[in-house]
Amino acid sequence: MCGIVGYIGKQDVRNLLLEGLKRLEYRGYDSSGLAVFAQDGFSVVRCTGRVSNLVEATAKNSEEGTLGISHTRWATHGGVTESNTHPHVSSDGKIALVHNGVIENYVEMRKFLETKGFTFSSETDTEALSNLIAYHYAKEQTDAKDASRFFIAVKKALSHVEGTYGIAVTCVDYPDELIGARKGSPLIVGVGQGEYILASDVSAIITHTSNVVYLNDDEMVSMSRDDFRVVSAADEGVDPIIDTIDWDVEDAEKGEFAHYMLKEIFEQPAALENAMRGRFSDDSSTAIFGGLNLTPRELRQVDRILFTSCGTAWHACLVAEYLIERYARIPVEVEYASELRYRNAPLDKNTLVFVITQSGETIDTLGALREAKRKGYRALAITNGVGSTIAREADGGIYQHAGPEIGVASTKAFTSQLMIAAMLALYLGRLRDMSYTDGVEMVKALRSVPELVTETLKQDAQIKEIAVKYAEYADFLFLGRQAMFPVALEGALKLKEISYIHAEGYPAAEMKHGPIALISEECPSVFIATDGEIFQKVLSNIQEVKARKGKVILIHSKSCEVPRELVDDAIVIPDAADSIMPILATVPLQLLSYYIAVARGCDVDKPRNLAKSVTVE
Ligand code: F6R
Repeated sequence: MCGIVGYIGKQDVRNLLLEGLKRLEYRGYDSSGLAVFAQDGFSVVRCTGRVSNLVEATAKNSEEGTLGISHTRWATHGGVTESNTHPHVSSDGKIALVHNGVIENYVEMRKFLETKGFTFSSETDTEALSNLIAYHYAKEQTDAKDASRFFIAVKKALSHVEGTYGIAVTCVDYPDELIGARKGSPLIVGVGQGEYILASDVSAIITHTSNVVYLNDDEMVSMSRDDFRVVSAADEGVDPIIDTIDWDVEDAEKGEFAHYMLKEIFEQPAALENAMRGRFSDDSSTAIFGGLNLTPRELRQVDRILFTSCGTAWHACLVAEYLIERYARIPVEVEYASELRYRNAPLDKNTLVFVITQSGETIDTLGALREAKRKGYRALAITNGVGSTIAREADGGIYQHAGPEIGVASTKAFTSQLMIAAMLALYLGRLRDMSYTDGVEMVKALRSVPELVTETLKQDAQIKEIAVKYAEYADFLFLGRQAMFPVALEGALKLKEISYIHAEGYPAAEMKHGPIALISEECPSVFIATDGEIFQKVLSNIQEVKARKGKVILIHSKSCEVPRELVDDAIVIPDAADSIMPILATVPLQLLSYYIAVARGCDVDKPRNLAKSVTVE
């Protein structure tokens, strides 16, 4: 949520900040602003709406400079207005600040600062922090040996903050210093030649440098044009580790696609291939994972797995439950991370905790991971966020290697999580009762996925036609059984998110216990059914919908025999093993929701009220 870009170097900062903000717009797009350290103090431009508005306003109203900070906002405290937009300059004009996160004690801070003569022009929690830094700056009289008076003021102010922050700060008296700090909100330093970029996300820096330092919680960084220094909470100098980002600029660009979401749907064969790369044993009978940090013996002792996460990743957990229980015979439970972190759930000592998270930064998932670790459980992560907070704090895990996902609605990251869940089921199964031959069969099935997804994607044009036909309906049901139930949930979530249509996912048979009341000519149902023992049961559920004049779109595997009169529209996916069916069945649902949203004229990559990576509670 919210994006930060700060820069100190030799270039005119404005283009660099604006370009970074455009790349970060997927993190928040209510409003945006920048502050340039100019000849006569800060040159501040702020606008509501998209970053394109800020580009125009900057061209008209800003001054040049080589030090600056900027922000794209997803509103938490205070409405979407220009005065609530960051940067916030302290009322004495000394400090300019951009902030991600939530300052929980800002009301008390504000009251205190008002008694000291500071004034406020916004409803935000952030303005309290810029004034608090200014307050400490005024109190501090001189530079210290290792740190500037400005740095000390920021540090003192942060020691009074309850809540979370990732910040970039400048002071009008320090033209050669940019300061950043983090606690709970991601912040990185892009290390260039004679220049540094402070950002909330690697996509903002990728065109300038691939060298990056991921800051840890409670660390502060001070940057000049020639050097930077990281300091820990204990006030000790930290030897920063400079990592290399392993993706290219093109990975984070739309190319010829109309939207990131469509591009990412079509990138799935490659993302799925990457999830598997180098992860099968030489005899191709099992999966291998280098980063679990658990021996096979330790894994055999696990008698329960608890999966936890949020949103789409939570649906991946539900699929993992079906797969692991079926193929590895280990009991699995799934919890929303936002619930788990505040519940005192009793966990058995042989329980293994797994979080799934695309970004590796979701605050609730991070909270659940920390809570599990605090209780002494081994907590692992499946994540696409290399270097993310969760990747660094987990006891081990599996990287997805799906490449950057920019579209707010998750697509390729989800199917890649399903692939890893299937590989994990195989690995754990082979450590228990799964035979060598069954293992070989499963590896074969997994390896066939990229090709089968490519084949499924060829139905793009047909799915588009169906989407146009259904685009004006206001309500949808998504129904599936067994592992297709979480797939139905995911289909409903995708449609809600990007087209603002009310949609609900249910186990197909559960429909009779309530949701059937919604069925009418006005509420279509999307069924997902693959060949197998319960296919006939799903057909009975479809009959129940048809009997009530409901329209039916059926996604089914090729060899299913479907009575034509039962369905209004059908989308056929290839026949395949059960372990990979959730992946194949997801692809048409993604395309269906994408084309419905496009037909309704929705902004697919920036759906209203949403932002990628939810780093506030
Ligand atoms: C939906 C979507 C969200 C995320 C959720 C968790 O399309 O993307 O529901 O799945 O916010 O995010 P991560 O996976 O980054 O923890």
